[in-house]
Amino acid sequence: MKVLVTGGAGFIGSHIVDELLFQHFDVVIVDNLSTGREENIPGHVTHYNMDLRDSLDLVFANERPDIVIHQAAQVSVAHSMKNPGFDAEENIKVTVNLLESCVKYGVTKFIFASSAAVYGAPAYLPIDENHPIDPSSFYGLSKRSAETYIEMFSQTFDLNYTILRYSNVYGMRQNTEGEAGVVALFIDQALKGETLSVFGDGLQTRDFIFVKDVAKANVAACLNGDRETINISQGIQTSILELIKALYLNIGDSIQPSFYEERTGDIRHSLLSNKKAKQLLEWEPFYTLSEGLKLTIEHSQNHKVHMYLK
Ligand SMILES: NC(=O)c1ccc[n+]([C@@H]2O[C@H](COP(=O)([O-])OP(=O)(O)OC[C@H]3O[C@@H](n4cnc5c(N)ncnc54)[C@H](O)[C@@H]3O)[C@@H](O)[C@H]2O)c1
Repeated sequence: MKVLVTGGAGFIGSHIVDELLFQHFDVVIVDNLSTGREENIPGHVTHYNMDLRDSLDLVFANERPDIVIHQAAQVSVAHSMKNPGFDAEENIKVTVNLLESCVKYGVTKFIFASSAAVYGAPAYLPIDENHPIDPSSFYGLSKRSAETYIEMFSQTFDLNYTILRYSNVYGMRQNTEGEAGVVALFIDQALKGETLSVFGDGLQTRDFIFVKDVAKANVAACLNGDRETINISQGIQTSILELIKALYLNIGDSIQPSFYEERTGDIRHSLLSNKKAKQLLEWEPFYTLSEGLKLTIEHSQNHKVHMYLK
């Protein structure tokens, strides 16, 4: 079975590619390397270095994929607020472009990377899939719009799909430039000998999920979860102070926080229910936060040594 992964050179997409190869799928990548890296792509995997806003006929006619896993996106909430037009092009137009190609070339299933950002500020915790949809950023809005297009393509053209709404994903290969995830940022700061920037009192909570578990959920969705929208999360609330303590246990004394004023617009608590994922995808998170952090730190340390040796 052939799977086309968009954004396969990126953080999450590259781990999905690894998991698909491990499970003996044929894999093709489309990625314009805008935030992704060539070094994330295994040498033998076909990579189309092209923009998904352009015509995709060449790729689909050549490759005839059975499944499309769509990870490519503009992923920054802050950028979406500064440039909603670009965000809409990347997150809505690209998705519609892909959906049209899926219908034209008889793709059997479309798997989409959505986000907890579609829910906005939580009305209750844990947030399940029936929670009200009320995005508080253009990023959340563009992800929700893409979901709605997928649902209508499915109704109109009988295209099978699974929408996966991720919580905070962390792990190896996460970008530390720009608006990185807090785990990537903290590890980067710690390895540079800097203090960790905590905004507010550090008691705000997030639901951190390890990237390898997210990759496994996507591969599970190749077989299960038809026409469903499903949260992908650890289902555990971790405060920023607890995260710092877990990093301290792995890295040691160089972990020192600095406290800054709380940022306006930051959500105080976040927790996604993963009950539906466990039921429908026959999936559950395998890595604890401590195990995931250990692997991520080891990778960053090796990468740093590698960079010095170059
Ligand atoms: N990282 C998280 O915590 C998180 C949480 C929720 C949802 N998501 C979603 O997961 C997906 C993957 O995110 P990530 O963190 O791996 O981001 P990433 O930036 O590492 O990966 C995105 C990839 O898409 C590629 N890309 C972007 N626009 C493209 C275009 N027009 N044409 C071709 N390639 C393009 C980039 O080069 C990059 O390799 C995104 O859809 C994101 O919205 C991520």
